[in-house]
Amino acid sequence: MKNVLAIETSCDDTSVAIVSDGGVVRALCSANQDLAHQPFGGIVPEIASRNHTLNLLPLVDSCFQKANMDWQDIDGLAVTSRPGLMGSLLVGVVTAKTLALAKEKPFVTINHLEAHIWSPFIKDHSYSISEDFTPPFVSLVVSGGHTHLYRVKDLGKYEVLGATLDDAAGEAFDKFAKMLGLGFPGGVAVEKNSQGGRADAFSFPRALWNKDNCNFSFSGLKTEALRVLKDLPVDKRPIADLCASYQEAIVDVLVHKIDKAVEKTGLKRVAVAGGVSANKRLREKIEQWAQQKEVAVSIPPLRYCTDNAAMVGYVGLRRLQSGQRDSWEASPSASSLEGDFIDVRSG
Ligand code: KG4
Ligand code: ZN
Repeated sequence: MKNVLAIETSCDDTSVAIVSDGGVVRALCSANQDLAHQPFGGIVPEIASRNHTLNLLPLVDSCFQKANMDWQDIDGLAVTSRPGLMGSLLVGVVTAKTLALAKEKPFVTINHLEAHIWSPFIKDHSYSISEDFTPPFVSLVVSGGHTHLYRVKDLGKYEVLGATLDDAAGEAFDKFAKMLGLGFPGGVAVEKNSQGGRADAFSFPRALWNKDNCNFSFSGLKTEALRVLKDLPVDKRPIADLCASYQEAIVDVLVHKIDKAVEKTGLKRVAVAGGVSANKRLREKIEQWAQQKEVAVSIPPLRYCTDNAAMVGYVGLRRLQSGQRDSWEASPSASSLEGDFIDVRSG
């Protein structure tokens, strides 16, 4: 088992990758749907799944071309089957099963969050993780749908240390951008507009700060933002200050809860992944904190932070190499399956 073809369609990005032994990316081809969803200020599930059906097979062809490979070189398939938008997942899973059947290859279904967890371990011609960064480690997966802290013991062995009780951090970015009419996806827009702004101009809440746990809550932040904006006439809004202050509130909480997770587990290695980990201010503040606390931090390059099939291929290859196979009955699921993660949170 040397080369895997991987498919990711859990949300709005369609992505295909070929990943080789050791987690080396041979090709990664993705189609971004941002323009299709932009008029709605958020992802429209029906549009997402329709676009996946149009994008997927041409991306498979592009990957073969890019890697200079064909089906003979592929030993198995991996596909994201959970959690995510049902219609989107269905397109990926049905396509992967059909290709596996037609080409007589084994396949495995992968949890999208598990794929994010291992994304810092993907390798390519210009990136690889430091050799001494090995499990166990603390992982923060922070995206549009998830804000989770895990203790990663090994492949398939994850404990949930904390999670958001309401909105995800990416969702908080997206909603704020929508309120300000900055465009979609919101995180990128808020980051861009925060340039030159004062992070202490507005004091947005840092929820659950004093709670001795690793949980998050971002819904109060959104409510406070609505209240602040109501008092500011649209043409008098200091956009840069608002964005910098709002971003700082999210970043502060993420770093503070990573610190809690490290304190609770005693682990000195932290990996950060998911779309929000592309945020420069977050990266900067985590690096500062890590230096202070003498913790090793690993954050993948931007291309592996947002949704991509290379991370699915990395986990898929390892699972196929360990002998795992899924049956033709495998189907998508909107949420994680029991056993994917162990929740060790108390109170
Ligand atoms: O991991 P991802 O691509 O998809 C999900 O699984 O959700 O994450 C998308 C999320 C969106 O909410 C987007 O606004 C956010 O990641 N995001 C960012 C940045 N780039 C993407 N948030 C803050 N700063 C960024 N630079
Ligand atoms: Zn994701």
